[in-house]
Amino acid sequence: MAVDVVEVALGARAYEVRIGQGLLAQAGAEMAPLLRRKRVAIVTDETVAPLHLATLEAACAEAGIATAALRLPAGEATKSWPHLATCVEWLLEQKVERRDVVVALGGGVIGDLVGFAASVLRRGVRFVQIPTTLLAQVDSSVGGKTGINTAQGKNLVGAFHQPSLVLADIGVLESLPARDFLSGYGEVVKYGLLGDAAFFDWLEGNAVDLARDPAKRQRAVLRSVQMKAEIVARDETEEGDRALLNLGHTFCHALEKATGYGDRLLHGEGVAIGCALAFELSSRLGLCSQEDPSRVRAHLKAMGMKLDLADIPGDLPGAEALLALMGQDKKVIDGKLRFILARGIGQAFVAEDVPGDLVLRLLQDALDAKL
Ligand code: GLY
Repeated sequence: MAVDVVEVALGARAYEVRIGQGLLAQAGAEMAPLLRRKRVAIVTDETVAPLHLATLEAACAEAGIATAALRLPAGEATKSWPHLATCVEWLLEQKVERRDVVVALGGGVIGDLVGFAASVLRRGVRFVQIPTTLLAQVDSSVGGKTGINTAQGKNLVGAFHQPSLVLADIGVLESLPARDFLSGYGEVVKYGLLGDAAFFDWLEGNAVDLARDPAKRQRAVLRSVQMKAEIVARDETEEGDRALLNLGHTFCHALEKATGYGDRLLHGEGVAIGCALAFELSSRLGLCSQEDPSRVRAHLKAMGMKLDLADIPGDLPGAEALLALMGQDKKVIDGKLRFILARGIGQAFVAEDVPGDLVLRLLQDALDAKL
């Protein structure tokens, strides 16, 4: 299968996202044109390293590129000050210089952490993203958002630092646990819902095959990345349109906070539930037809995804508490909640003035399983 290439058109910071089967085994040749000296520092985690690090190291060796690798613990807790310090200090010990390239091999946690480390190391060095999860391939590895979590919240410390290249090997997704794959699918379906009704139609007919059909998987990753690249090129630092990528995320962040950002609810699962709620809210506001939320729900159900609040194990706080958790969302501007709503499938927009009582009623109905 051919490699698909998406250009993220950001002028001097433009780069390619290359999408294909087997790219990891060619990563040395892919990265070689970027290198001023034939040496890269790779940062990965303890889950990804046994699965994919040897392939990357062999690919580099084949291209005459020396490597050093750091393995960090897997999991969200790694996106923290202590691991940032470990990463930056290790890169300095490896004598990574301004003109060198750092490689992030892993999912969203590694991509965000290593990208941020690269942004501050010697006031900024280049980095390459090699995302190994569906979520990272279609979302977090593209667009340059990097950062860590602090005691005050998620992603509150970070920088926009664009990678120099993204290598999305759709073959590595075969090693993902089914639940992680499905969680990443939450971000894929988001693209159809926010801006491409024809893609959503295609997903309705084909998404059940994505985990086992490489051609369909490549098509889904490609379309997602194309949409993300277009939006990021229009609005790199989220002054406007980039907020559309947060469809479903205001609900999602509240649910993630309520469930402790852990195994009870994975990010992409929360995004899918959030998208369904955003369409329900849009329908209640008379913005879209009543069939639209039903169609979204039917598709998520057909995919075997979490859909209702009752699908989240354990107790959730009440509607008012959930609304309050939304109020802490970092996307709140001047105390006003913003939602990404939709005028139909593929027609999302940023709404600034959504009545709070309507959101409260929606949350209450969702908690009472009345959707
Ligand atoms: N994940 C949303 C964004 O990159 O803007």
